[in-house]
Parts: sequence; structure tokens; C-alpha cells
Amino acid sequence: MGLFGENSINKAELLGVIIRLSLLTAVSFMTLKWALNQMDHTLSQKKKAKDKAKKICKKLGLEIEQQQLNDYEMVIASHLVDPSDISVSWEDVAGLEDVVQEMKDTVILPIQRQDLFADSQLTQPPKGVLLYGPPGCGKTLIAKATAKEAGARFINLDVSMLTDKWYGESQKLAAAVFTLAAKIQPCIIFIDEIDAFLRMRASQDHEATAMMKAQFMSFWDGFITDHSCIVILMGATNRPMDLDKAILRRMPSRFNIGLPDCSQRTKILRLILSKEPIAEEVDCETLARETVGFSGSDLREVCRNASLYRVRDFNQSSSSKQSDEDDFQDALRPITMVDLVLSIEKFKESKFLSTSGLHTSA
Ligand SMILES: Nc1ncnc2c1ncn2[C@@H]1O[C@H](COP(=O)(O)OP(=O)(O)OP(=O)(O)O)[C@@H](O)[C@H]1O
Ligand SMILES: [Mg+2]
Repeated sequence: MGLFGENSINKAELLGVIIRLSLLTAVSFMTLKWALNQMDHTLSQKKKAKDKAKKICKKLGLEIEQQQLNDYEMVIASHLVDPSDISVSWEDVAGLEDVVQEMKDTVILPIQRQDLFADSQLTQPPKGVLLYGPPGCGKTLIAKATAKEAGARFINLDVSMLTDKWYGESQKLAAAVFTLAAKIQPCIIFIDEIDAFLRMRASQDHEATAMMKAQFMSFWDGFITDHSCIVILMGATNRPMDLDKAILRRMPSRFNIGLPDCSQRTKILRLILSKEPIAEEVDCETLARETVGFSGSDLREVCRNASLYRVRDFNQSSSSKQSDEDDFQDALRPITMVDLVLSIEKFKESKFLSTSGLHTSA
């Protein structure tokens, strides 16, 4: 009887130990999970990206539930561009009619009218398009206009998002770029300043970066061989020579966006000044002749400075006259030829300074 009693106490003790042990295991499991979640910075980013992606996809009329996007594809989907958010259209690109026409013929028409080109493999849109040329001449501008007008999904790929990740994440994201593009095709993947990402591979590249580049290329190859899939990778760079040769080979359609010549500068100036109050005597052709070597963005800067001169003049005259604020709009005079010529002179001085500065430091 005594023995039996002792046994039953042992059994109760055993049960207690088992319960305590399982409780301890459960608590340690929960703590470990919590700690891991805390350590995984990407989790909150993924959640944010997911919310953003859902919003954009809804706006674009994409059914993401049907597509069954994974977490990585969601992150990439958050970089989808809504064409209605883009203010740039073909009308905002001046002096590059040939490039725009070629872009429309070789890239946009085959996307929009797939039925027309279905019977030919050769008239499919190119899988890779490269825009190259000196800074400030309209590469990004053309890409934006393409995003607005192409009628395709457009992913504006921020490359820092691919590289700035934990080990292993980058490769998964790189793969997701293409798997997502395939799911939502026709799709254009745009990488601005592509040389920063796909520059010549060097032996001192970090292992993770090298692997990501390799994977990026092999996925891209998958699309190049798949003719039914309309995914175009579009890149812009002002350093085409820095690009990996293998990348250049995959971008057969190349557009050189060079410095504008005299007639192009006239068109750019006309476009920039068309929305501004200008004096009648302003002659864009004369200004274009004075601005040899200027890029489109230089011309924009010149016009911006010229328009500031009238504000400065107004400030000076109003502080001497003490006029009231209601007169502000009426009192601002239009931009004159003198403003523009002065602004060009100033710009040339600073341009000369920056180039000679570069020479001395080199
Ligand atoms: N052909 C053009 N027509 C109208 N505006 C232009 C043109 N080229 C440049 N611009 C003006 O210059 C700005 C800068 O152009 P953009 O960003 O396209 O240059 P980019 O070629 O991408 O330069 P970067 O190589 O430095 O990125 C544009 O926002 C636009 O205001
Ligand atoms: Mg650019």
C-alpha cells in the first residue's frame, strides 16, 4: 500500500515535470520567434511594400490575388509605375523626333499591336533597349514618356533595393523582377543609370553581387529565348563603355541621345519658353546659336535663371516703391532677351569654371 502511495506521488511529480517542460519549450519557442522577427529588418519593409503593391495593383487593375505573387514579387510590384501619375508625354520631348519615332515603331507598336506581328519572330519588340549619351540630354525624359504612352506595365527598378539586402535576399529579388514581369506582361523593366548596377564584372566583386548579376543575366536570357513573353529591359546610362559586354549584347536596340545641335536647341528653348511669359523680341534661334555645347538640362537652367532676374528686378523696384502685394502678378515683367543673354553668359562662366576646376584637380 505504502509502495503504491509512493508510486502515485512519483506519477504526479512526473506529470508536473512534463507540464513545466512543455510550458518552458513553448515559451522559449515564442521568445526565439519574437527575437528572430525583431532581427529580420526586411520583414517590416516587406509588409510596407506589400501594402504599397496592393494599392498600385488595384489602381492598375491588376488582380494580385489571382496572380499569387510571393513576398519578393510584392516588393518589386511596389515599384510599378502608374502612367496617370506621370506628367511627361511625347510633347515634352523636343528635338528628338527621330528617336521618339524609332521608339514608337520598334518598341511601342509591337507591344500595342501584338496581333499585327504575331506571325513574325523578327518583328517582335527587342528584349533589351539602351538609351545612352551625355548627361542632361533627355534619356530619363524619354523613358518617362515611354512609361506614360506604351500601354504596358512599367517597373521603375530602383537598383539599391536589390543590392542593399541581406545575403540571399538580393538573388531572390533579382529573380522576382523577372517572374513578376512575366506574370504581368507586357511589361517594361526600366533601370536608370544601369552602369552602376551592371558595370563590368571584376574579380574583386563581392560574392553576393557577382552571383546576383549572374542570376540576373540568366533570367534575362530565359526571356530572350521565350518569344511569346513580352518583357523588355530598358536601361539608361551616360557611361555605356562601363557596361558589361554581356549586357550590351543583350541590348540590341540602342538609342544615342547626344548633345542637341543648333536646331534641336531652338526647339528645346521654344518648348521650355512656351509656358512662360516672354517678351515679343525673344528669338530662340539666336539664343540657340549662343549656346553651343549646352545640354537640354543646361538650357532649362538658363531659362530658369533668366526668369529669376525679373523677380529680382521686381523685388528691387517694389522695395523702393513700397507697392502693395496685390500688384505682384501685374507688376512682374515678361522674360526679355537681355535676361536670357545675361543668363547664358553667367552659365558659360560657371560651366568654364567647373570644367577648368576638373582639369586642375585631375
Ligand atoms: N530633348 C529635350 N526636350 C525637352 N527637355 C529636355 C530635353 N533634354 C533635356 N531636357 C530637360 O533636361 C532635364 C534633364 O533631362 P534627363 O533627366 O532626361 O537627362 P538624362 O539624359 O537622363 O541625364 P543623366 O544622364 O544625367 O541622367 C529634363 O527634365 C528636361 O527638363
Ligand atoms: Mg537620367
